Amino acid sequence: MSGAAVQRFYRYHALVYDQTRWMILHGRRRAVARMGLQPNSDVLEVGCGTGLNFHYVIDELGADSRLVGLDFSADMLQRAERRVAQKGWSNVELVQGDATKLALGRAFDAILFAYSLTMIPDWPAAVDRAVEHLKPGGRLVVLDFSRFHGWGPLAPVMRTWLRLNHVITLRPYEDKLRAALPGTEVYYWLGGYNFTTVGRRPI
Ligand SMILES: C[S@@+](CC[C@H](N)C(=O)[O-])C[C@H]1O[C@@H](n2cnc3c(N)ncnc32)[C@H](O)[C@@H]1O
Repeated sequence: MSGAAVQRFYRYHALVYDQTRWMILHGRRRAVARMGLQPNSDVLEVGCGTGLNFHYVIDELGADSRLVGLDFSADMLQRAERRVAQKGWSNVELVQGDATKLALGRAFDAILFAYSLTMIPDWPAAVDRAVEHLKPGGRLVVLDFSRFHGWGPLAPVMRTWLRLNHVITLRPYEDKLRAALPGTEVYYWLGGYNFTTVGRRPI
């Protein structure tokens, strides 16, 4: 599966994304709370999609701080653009780009991946690029589907259904995140429905 396949997938899913994903993408508020945001934080969301996490972040930020939303799908970004315009969020910047080749030339106090890392074929590169974009002391928070380890016979069913939707659950995400940022904490929800990791770049 390639990044191009994911982009094609979102060409159509962008049309119904906001109306459907509330059923399956849980834990946004909790993940953003773990970012430790301050009114002057500069924040990046990698794979921001239509911007469903933006209001949780914006609520924590002052007028002079910035939220950058990056995604490689023009169709998803178009929806995010519309949301930002409707809300009048002047401190949100949207950037089209590939998480595995991230080179924004600036660093952030907090970076969020929400349900994007498991869709990226070269996900270790995306983690490495994000870590490079953290300020000393900055936090990397990843929220995504886990392995459904407490779901018994339903676990493989869930993992297969997600794989058909370009989400790969059986990869060592937590190990990579701990290796990239030692001391990374990992939290599981609902028997491994999802995980949230919180890592800090050493000062
Ligand atoms: C399930 S959506 C999550 C969107 C949003 N973060 C949310 O919580 O609703 C995954 C997003 O990741 C984006 N994505 C996947 N691979 C990417 C990559 N290599 N670079 C940038 N964005 C990517 C997709 O285009 C899509 O918008």
